[in-house]
Amino acid sequence: MWDYYDRRAAQGIRGVNHALEYWTGLGVEVTVADIEAESDQLVRHLRGLTPARFVEVGAGPGTFTTILPGRGMALDQSDASLRILLAGPAQVPVVRADALSLPIRDQVVERVYATHIYGILGEKDRRVLVSEAKRVARQLVIVDAGRPAGVPAEHWQDRTLPDGSSWRIHRRHFEGPDLAAEVGGEVLFAGRFYVLIAA
Ligand SMILES: C[S@@+](CC[C@H](N)C(=O)[O-])C[C@H]1O[C@@H](n2cnc3c(N)ncnc32)[C@H](O)[C@@H]1O
Repeated sequence: MWDYYDRRAAQGIRGVNHALEYWTGLGVEVTVADIEAESDQLVRHLRGLTPARFVEVGAGPGTFTTILPGRGMALDQSDASLRILLAGPAQVPVVRADALSLPIRDQVVERVYATHIYGILGEKDRRVLVSEAKRVARQLVIVDAGRPAGVPAEHWQDRTLPDGSSWRIHRRHFEGPDLAAEVGGEVLFAGRFYVLIAA
């Protein structure tokens, strides 16, 4: 999975067209305008959070990094993703590390943002991610995929990259209240395509 995301980084920041491709690939009837409208709502909720000293885990190429309120750093396992992030508009330091073993002392940051990483992990790794977040920060904010009608809650997806390589990627899709209950948090926003949870 790490290798897949490192190679996929060449595609750059994940935009609305990637989201459209993702959801239509799962059989969801949706337009760019639908996704943009919801993404705008998500961004408004994120921007409305109190600024905090943060670490964003699973930052990838920086899809969300520029809109996270506060000062912080972006963390990912993928060197290629972090290089793209650094070349982009986000003015944050980056660290290449494992989100399940954060190189950060206890309670040194105020908030961990987990942007589309929680739902790609297996059960044990999800628990470790949450416990690492609690160790280093007071608050965990999760941005993840919603669950439009007809989309499975959990499954393996077959993917191919432009270089012809094939991959199996684990994905979950969430109803906001279910994810909030799972991590002991509250729903800040729950749409068809995005959920935002604070714990
Ligand atoms: C689905 S992508 C999300 C990227 C970006 N946040 C976004 O929303 O577009 C998941 C990211 O998590 C990273 N990742 C997965 N497991 C990780 C781990 N254990 N430690 C650090 N990064 C990890 C991958 O390299 C990838 O960049």
